[in-house]
This record gives sequence, structure tokens and C-alpha cells, in this order.
Amino acid sequence: MSVVPHFGSGKITVPDLLQRKNQAAGSLSKSHKITCLTAYDYPTARLLDEAGVEVLLVGDSLGMVVLGHESTLPVTLEDMLHHTRAVRRGARRALVVADMPYGSYHADTAESLRNAVRFVKEAGAEAVKIEGGERRLELIAKLTEAEIPVMGHVGLTPQSVNALGGYRVQGKTPDAAEQLIRDARAVEAAGAFAVVLEAVPRELAARITRDLRIPTIGIGAGPDCDGQVLVLHDILGLTFSPLPKFARRYANLGELISKAALEYCADVRAGLFPSDAESYHAPQKAIEEKEAPVNTDGDW
Ligand code: KIV
Repeated sequence: MSVVPHFGSGKITVPDLLQRKNQAAGSLSKSHKITCLTAYDYPTARLLDEAGVEVLLVGDSLGMVVLGHESTLPVTLEDMLHHTRAVRRGARRALVVADMPYGSYHADTAESLRNAVRFVKEAGAEAVKIEGGERRLELIAKLTEAEIPVMGHVGLTPQSVNALGGYRVQGKTPDAAEQLIRDARAVEAAGAFAVVLEAVPRELAARITRDLRIPTIGIGAGPDCDGQVLVLHDILGLTFSPLPKFARRYANLGELISKAALEYCADVRAGLFPSDAESYHAPQKAIEEKEAPVNTDGDW
């Protein structure tokens, strides 16, 4: 039996994604690819969910694209919980995965586990994502044991920006490629249900994808991964710096927002907003014009 993506209906679950990969020989075929985007709030979560995006990642990229920080490092556990709750309220069908922010899983395992549990219990996440390969083996196993599905993240891990010396493509030398393969295997062996491959050569991502029994989700890792993820604000034109090579702009909402704001300001200054029709009226005039009350408790 082939696995058909549940377009239009059917909750996306962790076992669904694993089963999809299990039934594939090598990487997922085009029509079975996993679609993932970041989401940070209720309206975008709802729109993406209704558009059929299967995995909503509440990425700590929110620190940069929503909160205006220069890196993801200042993002707090409370920031992530707050935004995960909002995304949860907007998602019906998509799987909601929350990024654990820097510092929330770097001390002892017990504290990391408590923090991960908060995402599930308080914010409604169905899985958490943590960055790092071999060195996260024990933690991924512990979270999995505690019934928390884990998405791994290897390659360019933005929380390691200081250790890596910048945002650079990873796995370019033979040694680095071997390490990346070990990292991806470790994440799988520890029990993760999927792994993000970020900024790695296409050929290496293809090899890891063939190698693993769990789906790979690529960002800057070429088309052969089992799925793709991008940062929502990049694809919508809501960022202020040049896009990375791997991102594609599907809309320019930045331009639309600026235009709408300019028109609004001009209308207010010209006395064109609000119009009479956009105003409430005193009772007698409202009755004459059959103006509907705003709400049922008699307010106008
Ligand atoms: O935080 C994020 O948005 C991410 C994706 C880029 C994978 O981790």
C-alpha cells in the first residue's frame, strides 16, 4: 500500500512521517515530500495549516525575524512557549514542532527534560527540535523515553554561531562530511523521528537521506532530502537583509505592508478616513438608516 499525503484532511503525526519514509526506497518521492515552514503566531499558523503545510516549526529564528535580535542566542524559553501556544491555537492538521532555545537544554539532562516537558504540557507542542549531533545522543534518548518526539538538527546549527565563527556551509571537507554523517546517524540511533540538515552540500544531504530510516528535512541542503523547511519571513519578503542562496521569495508582503501603511497615513491626513459609513451614529440617525447594532447588548 502506498502512503498518500493527507492533503485536505487527516492530522499529521510523527508515526505518519516515519511510515512515509519506511515505505520509501531511499528518499521520499516528489509527491510524498514533507512540507515544513516556520510559524510564530496564530494567523500565520492558521493560514499555513489551511494551505496544507504539514509541519509547523516554531523556530527560534523568531528571535531574528520577529523579535529583531541579531542571532537566535537571546531567545528565551518563555519566548518560545509564548509563540508555540499561539501556533498551537492556529494549527489543526499540521504537526507542531517547537525549537528548544539556546541554554534550555545545555545544562543537565533533568533540567532539559523539564524544559522539554513544558513545550508539550503548557504549549501543546507535539515534538521538540534540538540542535547538535553526536553530543546530543543521550539527551535525545532521554526525551524520547519521556514520550517527547525529537527532531534533530545537524549541519549549520545557528545556536553554535560563536563556536562555528559564522553562518557557513558545513560538511565541505571529507572529514567534516564524515562527522556530519556520524552526527545524523547518532541522532537517528538516539531515537529522533526526523532530522533537519541545514546548509550542507546537496550530494552529502542526498547520501545522508539514503542512509537514514528517519526523514531528513533540508534547508539549504538541496532537493534530495525527504522534505524541505524555510523560514516563513524569508519566503514572504518580511526580512531586511539579503536572502541566503537557498531561500526563495514567494511573495513580497513587506512591500504590501509599506504601501498599505502609506495609503492609510495619507487618507487620515487628507480626512478621507474614516468615512461616514465607517462611523457609528447617534440612535435616531442609525434607526433612520437601519444601521445594524454592533453587538447584541445594545451598544452602537
Ligand atoms: O529556527 C529555525 O527557523 C530553524 C529552521 C531554520 C530549521 O531551526
